Amino acid sequence: MRPPDRYESAPADPIGFDEVFAELPLLHPTPRSWAEIAAAHLPEFLADHAVCEQQVAMYALSLAGYYPEDAELVERTAALAAEEVQHFRRVVAILRKRGWPLGGRRKNPWAQSLRARIVPGREPWTKVDRLLFGAMIEARSCERFTRLLEVVEDQEVGRLLADLGPAERRHWELFYHLAGRETEEAALAARFRGWREFEAGLARGLGLSPAVHG
Ligand SMILES: [Fe+2]
Ligand SMILES: [Fe+2]
Repeated sequence: MRPPDRYESAPADPIGFDEVFAELPLLHPTPRSWAEIAAAHLPEFLADHAVCEQQVAMYALSLAGYYPEDAELVERTAALAAEEVQHFRRVVAILRKRGWPLGGRRKNPWAQSLRARIVPGREPWTKVDRLLFGAMIEARSCERFTRLLEVVEDQEVGRLLADLGPAERRHWELFYHLAGRETEEAALAARFRGWREFEAGLARGLGLSPAVHG
């Protein structure tokens, strides 16, 4: 599937939840029951959320390290990393204000299983896969933030999710755009289809823990 060309900036008009879900490249929707559990366990959710933002910032910067000769990639992944650091700081500020602990590194089997699909040293596909991995991370995060936004009653957390959901949507589109410079559109779509199907299989097996990818 081809995302709309929206990665440059946020859309002018907010769009509804169903439209957000319809535009994401996900083949398995997160059940509402996950959002209800996350809403009931906001300290755990936000602690995990903070780590996710931190991790994706570091991943984006690592891409600039892998491909220093790719000026567009370096510029855009660095900008994305800076944005994720801002997201991290916003979540940390909420945790701190409320006296809720920030969690450290923890296992994220969903992300680990996805990342294990990247095979080093097989360019151009390694680069494409590194970018499509980023696209999947961002797309599922956008979906989960939006799912939680549908049910959460905490206004401050609602504002956070309403800001971050659209940002993560732009991010998956950006990763897909960067991957699309490396290969033909049909080949890219087929490659991404493999990622989407694999991710859907993982998502089907997830439990209902109050983690972003839990
Ligand atoms: Fe983020
Ligand atoms: Fe993001």
